[in-house]
Amino acid sequence: MAFVSIGFNQLYKHSIMAIGYEHYAKTFEKNHNDFPINFTNKIVNGDSIDVLKKLPDDSVDLIFTSPPYNFGMSYDHHDDVNEWDHYFCSLWKVFDECIRVLRYGGRIIVNVQPSSSNYIPTHHIITKGFMERGLIWRSEILWEKNHRHCATTAWGSWKSPSSPYLKYTWEFVEVFCKGNLKHDGDSNNIDITANEFKTWVNARWTIAPETRMKNFGHPAMFPPELAYRVLKLFSFKNDVILDPFNGAGTTSLVAERTGRRYLGIDLSPEYCNIAEQRMKDEVLKDYSGILDEKLALAEKDKGSKDRESQKIQTHTLSDLFDIDTIV
Ligand SMILES: C[S@@+](CC[C@H](N)C(=O)[O-])C[C@H]1O[C@@H](n2cnc3c(N)ncnc32)[C@H](O)[C@@H]1O
Repeated sequence: MAFVSIGFNQLYKHSIMAIGYEHYAKTFEKNHNDFPINFTNKIVNGDSIDVLKKLPDDSVDLIFTSPPYNFGMSYDHHDDVNEWDHYFCSLWKVFDECIRVLRYGGRIIVNVQPSSSNYIPTHHIITKGFMERGLIWRSEILWEKNHRHCATTAWGSWKSPSSPYLKYTWEFVEVFCKGNLKHDGDSNNIDITANEFKTWVNARWTIAPETRMKNFGHPAMFPPELAYRVLKLFSFKNDVILDPFNGAGTTSLVAERTGRRYLGIDLSPEYCNIAEQRMKDEVLKDYSGILDEKLALAEKDKGSKDRESQKIQTHTLSDLFDIDTIV
């Protein structure tokens, strides 16, 4: 009888490999084409299904977007109330083009709101769709908005298990990779700081929602800080960043201000004008500065807590001393 000796490491490696992402991820060509100059640093008004067809395969480094959610938002040109099959079919026409134009090792990062009243788990359906197309699901960020409107929504069945209605104060950010978890880039083009990296690899991000939507005339914007964190954590300076549902242009604005190349596409001429205007006017906050201040405060707070606990320790020792004396 022949014995096959297999070490623990080997066994462990084999079992992990068998159940890892390789099981379903597709092999993509390791191609990288140049991004066309005539689409570089542009806001384009049009349907992404058509516009994306004009881009070469494998030419975009990172896609960050929030699609319309079919929740009945009053957008300028897009009808946000559709049969769900129709909605997902249109969405995949855009996302399939996104997968095609994304380069090997590129990321597609999608901000999705959990469904509230219609019980359609959009973020799960979108995740399943990307995995079925062979992309690697890399991570999920919980964007905690601490959303105030949740305090006032309906209860479903009040104080009864019959049909309680759950409220969400957060949204999700799902991260997918094409072909490889690793995205190659020039190390001179890394702009994330040590503090940013240490803080943002914790996948729960507390960021207040955009409060200026009325000013910009757009009903569903995400705040610049969300795009700022996504771009600095997942892309290099000079990378090509695409948002196929660009809205009032938050992704494009942050990409431009952080030294990346960008293309933003939206159906509405109105939103494209707003995006162009923001590109001229808006001063992007120094989010690293805010983070450094917060960390300094937390450090100070920790210092005072340490002093507190030292006091408690002294107190405990003196208690012991008393007991000793009594004894
Ligand atoms: C959730 S909003 C994006 C908002 C954006 N993240 C921001 O911060 O301003 C979705 C956008 O997708 C646009 N849209 C919907 N279908 C589209 C399509 N097929 N092609 C291009 N844009 C589309 C809508 O006009 C809307 O502005």
